[in-house]
Amino acid sequence: MIEFRNVHFQYEGEDAPALQGIDLVVPDGSFLAIVGHNGSGKSTLSKHINGLLLPTEGQVLVDGLDTKEEKNLLSIRQQVGMVFQNPDNQLVTTIVEEDVAFGPENLGVAPKEIRRRVDDALQKVGMSAYAGSAAHKLSGGQKQRVAIAGMLAMEPKILVLDEATAMLDSQGRQELLQTVYDLHQRNGMTVVMITQYMEEAVMADRLVVMSGGKLVMDGTPVDVFSRGKELCDLGLDVPEIVRIRDDLIESGICLPNFILTDSQLAEALCPLL
Ligand SMILES: Nc1ncnc2c1ncn2[C@@H]1O[C@H](COP(=O)(O)OP(=O)(O)OP(=O)(O)O)[C@@H](O)[C@H]1O
Ligand SMILES: [Mg+2]
Repeated sequence: MIEFRNVHFQYEGEDAPALQGIDLVVPDGSFLAIVGHNGSGKSTLSKHINGLLLPTEGQVLVDGLDTKEEKNLLSIRQQVGMVFQNPDNQLVTTIVEEDVAFGPENLGVAPKEIRRRVDDALQKVGMSAYAGSAAHKLSGGQKQRVAIAGMLAMEPKILVLDEATAMLDSQGRQELLQTVYDLHQRNGMTVVMITQYMEEAVMADRLVVMSGGKLVMDGTPVDVFSRGKELCDLGLDVPEIVRIRDDLIESGICLPNFILTDSQLAEALCPLL
């Protein structure tokens, strides 16, 4: 479980706080998406989860461990895998399997166990066939999946993705999202996913919206995306399918208001045609 207790954070030398009174509980096994306009504090919040940043005021607890206590940091960082935006900044060695082994090697894990973890992690992200490949020759999406494998080899409980799909093409995005979704569904991985794409946020079971360093909306994607006007006031949009759904409802077509994806819309429309 991740717990933010009234967290405030201010970057050194800055006048305005980047986080203002964040209270947030993310239970084990949940999938949380975070959206918000540029500069709303999403990355700052995510860096608090593994103690890369420490609250100026308040507390962050990961599995009950306070990130402010130095002795907890190693354990917290093993539990929380972070994946960032730029695929080229995340791989540290030249060969894929060496890269995945890097984390557990640094933890002093035994070689036989490292082998098992590397094979297992590459298999989970669908990259086993590339174990011996040169990392720089991979596509952006493949690099991000190898970065996730590198995290998995540390056996984390939580995966935090900060706009991890932002620099990927459409296929790379789809593959990465599917990988993350499968890890959540099949392995019970807790996922915190920051995204600028509303279409991606519908995958989560909970969606929070940030603005000005605060959490301003919190609910299921169905709830949050039913509040289009508020989102618009925050400079955000609803997924295109939601707009089409609402236009159809407004024009008199009877559709359930939980529709968030194209396949759900197609399923609801087909019998009406
Ligand atoms: N290293 C830093 N030093 C000083 N101020 C920073 C630093 N990083 C971020 N900020 C400021 O903190 C606030 C929150 O930034 P943050 O990067 O968390 O936002 P974000 O929601 O992730 O934005 P984006 O969508 O652009 O990634 C912004 O006002 C930003 O200018
Ligand atoms: Mg950011």
